[in-house]
Amino acid sequence: MANLDLFAAQAGEAALRERLDGLRAQLHTLAHQYYVLDAPTLPDAEYDRLFRELQAIEAAYPEWTTADSPTQRVGGKPLDQFATVRHAVPMLSIRTETDTESTGAQAFDARVRKELELLDTDAPVEYVAELKFDGLAINLRYEHGVLVQAATRGDGEYGEDVTQNIRTVGQIPLRISAVAIPAVLEVRGEVYMRRDDFEALNQKQRDRGEKTFVNPRNAAAGAVRQLDPGIAAQRPLSFYAYGVGEVAPQPVGSLFATHMALLQTLKSWGFPVAEQTRVVRGADELVAFHQSIGSTRDQLPFDIDGVVYKVNSLALQQRLGFVTREPRWAVAHKYPAQEQMTRVLAIDVQVGRTGKLTPVARLEPVFVGGTTVSNATLHNLFEVRKKDVRVGDLVIVRRAGDVIPEVVGRVANADAGGASGDVPRSPYVPNFRLPAQCPVCGSAVVREKGEANHRCVGGLFCSAQRKQAILHFAQRRAVEVEGLGDKLVEQLVDAHVIRTLPDLYRLGFTALASLERMADKSAQNIVDALEKSKQTTLPRFLFGLGIRHVGEATAKELVRHFGSLDAIMDASEEALLQVNDVGPIVAKSLRTFFDQAHNREVVEQLRACGIRWEEGAATSELPKPLAGMTFVLTGTLPTLGRDDAKDKIEAAGGKVSGSVSKKTSYVVAGSEAGSKLTKAQELGVAVLDEAALLEMLK
Ligand code: IVH
Repeated sequence: MANLDLFAAQAGEAALRERLDGLRAQLHTLAHQYYVLDAPTLPDAEYDRLFRELQAIEAAYPEWTTADSPTQRVGGKPLDQFATVRHAVPMLSIRTETDTESTGAQAFDARVRKELELLDTDAPVEYVAELKFDGLAINLRYEHGVLVQAATRGDGEYGEDVTQNIRTVGQIPLRISAVAIPAVLEVRGEVYMRRDDFEALNQKQRDRGEKTFVNPRNAAAGAVRQLDPGIAAQRPLSFYAYGVGEVAPQPVGSLFATHMALLQTLKSWGFPVAEQTRVVRGADELVAFHQSIGSTRDQLPFDIDGVVYKVNSLALQQRLGFVTREPRWAVAHKYPAQEQMTRVLAIDVQVGRTGKLTPVARLEPVFVGGTTVSNATLHNLFEVRKKDVRVGDLVIVRRAGDVIPEVVGRVANADAGGASGDVPRSPYVPNFRLPAQCPVCGSAVVREKGEANHRCVGGLFCSAQRKQAILHFAQRRAVEVEGLGDKLVEQLVDAHVIRTLPDLYRLGFTALASLERMADKSAQNIVDALEKSKQTTLPRFLFGLGIRHVGEATAKELVRHFGSLDAIMDASEEALLQVNDVGPIVAKSLRTFFDQAHNREVVEQLRACGIRWEEGAATSELPKPLAGMTFVLTGTLPTLGRDDAKDKIEAAGGKVSGSVSKKTSYVVAGSEAGSKLTKAQELGVAVLDEAALLEMLK
């Protein structure tokens, strides 16, 4: 603050104002690159620094804060209730084609053709095929390019004003910087939560013993309708645009000929538009789209419950019009549900890679999310108690994407005797218990203070943990040993053929082929897959080691920072803390892991077995807080010599120039500063004293 005052006094408010505008523009661009394009151009630390600089200026001049400032994304004051908003253009719903087979698409195309009075000999109708996102609809109102209001759909006519919460969504532009945009532009789309964000959020809730969310849609809806925007800001939401509401003064039909042109323009204005969106022709291509999305649905990072087809021509859309509240030109075509009801046959306890004891519900097999599910996780002891799931209960099972199927909850009133009769609900069990000894190795089971999970302390003495450690290493996202599944690992560990990871690479054809039910061909495939897996990358290898709290993203950051495995293994906790996203828990976990001789031994043996990767150079040695800035030094600084100051600025990524121009970021002035200071004042270049410079270098 003191520095800011000085800054303002010396350079004039005008310069500070300019800096403020510059910071906002830069932060808007960076947010778009980061959140929408998924291609950050600056390290997070640098973004944070710019953000804090903006916050500091706004704190000193609160009257300069605007609704579209990037600082408004962190959430404001809690509300008592949401204001009601009347939609300028009603938010309609879409007719749903519940027939999940291809006939659903054919029926829609036939209806459209009939309405348009097309003959069989006429050309196929052009459609835009989109994903049907499973979140909630939002109307974003921009006036002169600035987001002024965000509202939920509500009953279609009246919604709720959730502007504060929506401002926290990084993917939603707070202002549109394109030149020719309509004075009034309402962008409509879906706010949703990615599956990984949902899993992480629920894990966090679980760890804190707080309420978990049933599915990403509920979590997203809860966040949007959260009265405390500070909480909303911590819920990771995403957004896809799929249409518009009011557009004025010119109507949308006069600006665009097709829906696709509209979407492309929204995209160029900074709105996320799903990359799967396609223009297709006729029923056959609709069917093909439905099938191709259906077969890759699991790999999407978010939930969809179907696809949407829309007539592409806006003129034809107008001709087709509406039936009650649904347009005739659009339809939603569903997929089989990812949640189903079934019965709990038993509750077992499984031991995972880190020794965690997980209660698992054995279920009456049910087809959900595209596969038959007969086991689902209940996460931990407290979840079982909270959900009060007992043998014989009817439960909702959810399976979405690669995520392990889970029991979402018990179906109310489905108790006493059980409808199917053969599996009665177990009598009242006040406290579901976990065993005091590991059911696999007999070691003690402990729960650390403040943790929701119970663990077997057996470590690699526990065969369950060994099996899981091997499967973790061999999985697709780690070093990938194709064909090495849980059955085979179980067989290998139980038969004492392998004990440790390196043993895996000492397996020969003979050992494999002599296993029960193992054909020569399959044995050879495994040998080949093992050989192939030896050429890997360091992030995969590091992730594969299964160090607690080191996931794929962390492994990548570590490698980016340190460049080599040896550097990572030898890094101190302080050095580890310098890495993006590495906090004290992760740093400690890494140190503990590599401080154990047997872990280093495993790494050495794996290398000796021929596992290899290309090592790169460490990219991030020192933070560069002054990257992209040019400084001019003038006068005598109180403590720093000219060369010292120059060295410090350059080490922090800044440049030092001899003359002042409009491109100069800051002039650093000491006593008896001369013409350079005058020039800076004329050009409105910000002036700093030594203290302010040292502050920036921190
Ligand atoms: S278009 C007039 N496109 O589905 C058409 N809606 O009943 C208005 N939804 O809650 C909606 N994905 O939020 C459209 N690609 C998509 C969509 C989509 C999901 C939701 C929407 C609304 C419901 C429509």
